[in-house]
Amino acid sequence: MFFAGLITTWGAASSRWLIAPRVLGRRRHSVIAAARTVGLVGSTALVAGAGLLFWRQLRQFRDPFLPWQEDASLLLATNWGLSWRLTAIGAVVTVTAFIFAASDGRGSELRRAAWIVASSLAGAMCAFPAFNGHSAAVEGLRWLSIPADYLHVLAAGSWIGGLFFVLIAELRERRQTGRGNALLAEVLPHFTPVALIAGALLIGTGVLASWLHVASLDALVSTRYGRILLTKVGLVVVVLILGAVNWRVLTPRLWGVGGARPLRRNAIRELTIAHAVILIAALLAQTSPLED
Ligand code: HEM
Repeated sequence: MFFAGLITTWGAASSRWLIAPRVLGRRRHSVIAAARTVGLVGSTALVAGAGLLFWRQLRQFRDPFLPWQEDASLLLATNWGLSWRLTAIGAVVTVTAFIFAASDGRGSELRRAAWIVASSLAGAMCAFPAFNGHSAAVEGLRWLSIPADYLHVLAAGSWIGGLFFVLIAELRERRQTGRGNALLAEVLPHFTPVALIAGALLIGTGVLASWLHVASLDALVSTRYGRILLTKVGLVVVVLILGAVNWRVLTPRLWGVGGARPLRRNAIRELTIAHAVILIAALLAQTSPLED
């Protein structure tokens, strides 16, 4: 839930700044409103996921023979506590900023400022997994593993969170006008380059992280970490195939029989399997690369 929230929140921010400004006329406001809905959903999941993850880590770390009051010292006196305090404040402020970040209209300075705050915090919080997971433990190559991990999460957000944004924007349009084709025809040419660049970055940084964390090709099958990673890569291939079908086969047929429906259905499949990939990434983050 934490990773999905992070990715969805960043997807809202990147879609707001990279895609929405390129949409013309009346639809731009509707598209910004869709990004805000995605941001609200993502940041709410982020607050809930962060709470659950914090509780889990605290139970692992704390001494069960000491009273709970002692845990305040863990929160106040350790780097671990500091990273959690910053994340908790960041997540709550992000939800609040999204509440204020309705679509741009007249007198929209406050809304724009709220978008800037929400987007900056979302971008900053995407660095949390890099500092809190296996990348921070890579001896000697931390200068490479931490930025690569950060880029991996940002790219996942721009692609998968962006896809969620496209579906929500289409849903809003369909509710208002009865059809979603025209909106998809306008938004997809701007989403596609973002998804292609993000996909390439995900594969590049993912291969790099695999090389950093997996000791040998053998370890890909002999360790639990390696086997989970292989499952993840298998599902990523399915997501890539579904994305390619959306792009090359179903987008050109937007105005044909069935309208936007085949594309919408396939995009929902892509989004669902991408979330299975995120779930597996969370399993990876909890598994030691060294254990058999
Ligand atoms: C749809 C595509 C993908 C998504 C949504 C995705 C998502 C994620 C997320 C959310 C994380 C957690 C970041 C962290 O723990 O620091 C992660 C980590 C990772 N990903 Fe990906 N990823 C994708 C593709 C790939 C690919 C293609 C590879 C390998 C070729 C890969 C390999 C890894 C590795 C090795 C980690 C590090 C896990 C750890 O902390 O031990 N990912 N991914």
